[in-house]
Amino acid sequence: MASTTKQVSEHPTNRIFSGIQPTGNLHLGNYLGAIRNWVTLQPDYECIYCMVDLHAVTMYQDPAELTASTREVTASLLASGIDPKGSIVFNQSQVHAHAELAWLFNCVSRMGWLNRMTQFKEKAGKNRENASVGLYAYPNLMAADILAYKASHVPVGADQKQHLELTRDIAQAFNSTYDVDCFPMTEPLIFGEATRVMSLRDGSKKMSKSEPSDMSRITLTDGPDDIAKKIRKAKTDPLPLTASLEDLEDRPEAKNLMVIFAALSNVPVTEVHQRFDGAEFSQFKKELIELAVEVLSPITTEMQRLVADPGYVDSVLRDGAERAAELATPIVKEVQDIMGFLRP
Ligand code: AMP
Ligand code: TRP
Repeated sequence: MASTTKQVSEHPTNRIFSGIQPTGNLHLGNYLGAIRNWVTLQPDYECIYCMVDLHAVTMYQDPAELTASTREVTASLLASGIDPKGSIVFNQSQVHAHAELAWLFNCVSRMGWLNRMTQFKEKAGKNRENASVGLYAYPNLMAADILAYKASHVPVGADQKQHLELTRDIAQAFNSTYDVDCFPMTEPLIFGEATRVMSLRDGSKKMSKSEPSDMSRITLTDGPDDIAKKIRKAKTDPLPLTASLEDLEDRPEAKNLMVIFAALSNVPVTEVHQRFDGAEFSQFKKELIELAVEVLSPITTEMQRLVADPGYVDSVLRDGAERAAELATPIVKEVQDIMGFLRP
């Protein structure tokens, strides 16, 4: 079987693609679970980072806010250390390959596969009949984002694992339907101490942009006073901290704060447990506030500077879109040829 399979163009072995929705409230979960990892991967990979505005509009976005958030999220990536000369930074709507390949994948992907997606169930909530078709087909567009570049690796937070599995299912189905080796089996990269940062108000829910309470998350626009207030008010329990990891299994809020401490200070979480064994939360929180302000303040300041210079941010996105299109356009053409579309 494999011998008859046609290998089309080469699969890159070290090409990263990742995306983030340009909606407000970028938070510590986005930073520790994704953006910070994107920065560290730059020296070793060819990196493509995308503000996924087509994904954002699967739920209504105020047009002026979408424009502003696209610049703001781009600024936060640059402020965090993404280098727009080495890496490609752009917004999804400006590279047509994404929407084109997404349509083709709508015809490869199966209703049954999408029906299993937990993010759709969470986002659509009880009112499923009223969810947009785009929200339902969201994972097909995500697969298109990744496969339009034949990306080898995708760094994401733990919540995206299921979408990455679907991406592989789509790649596999396409390859076997057309008997080609067109798409790679892209690997997720889920690493670091904080792959799933939880809400500061409820340790059973993930920290999210859409949670109504602003006290549930630390955002990248928070100043030192906001950070201090949110950590001081973060939910805990009456017991002192402990070095035992098992003891914290039933104390999700305590566990989450320790994970955040570990990730922000770049040490394994076990070390944080040792260090604060027997400590009161008041002492621990005081040190966590200092650490969070030290790590996040320079990013916030640089982000504000960049937001005040939209001409520069736009030029980064324009340049990124051009470079991205150069990579993706030939791949979409290759797919069209495989499927038999006439390109007269
Ligand atoms: P989104 O804000 O949904 O576009 O997510 C952008 C990136 O942040 C994705 O890689 C997510 O997996 C990651 N992410 C979002 N929320 C969290 C969280 N609470 N903890 C860790 N990573 C997260
Ligand atoms: N679905 C991702 C999220 O909500 C964002 C995203 C869109 C993405 N396309 C992607 C992430 C491609 C990685 C690769 O977080």
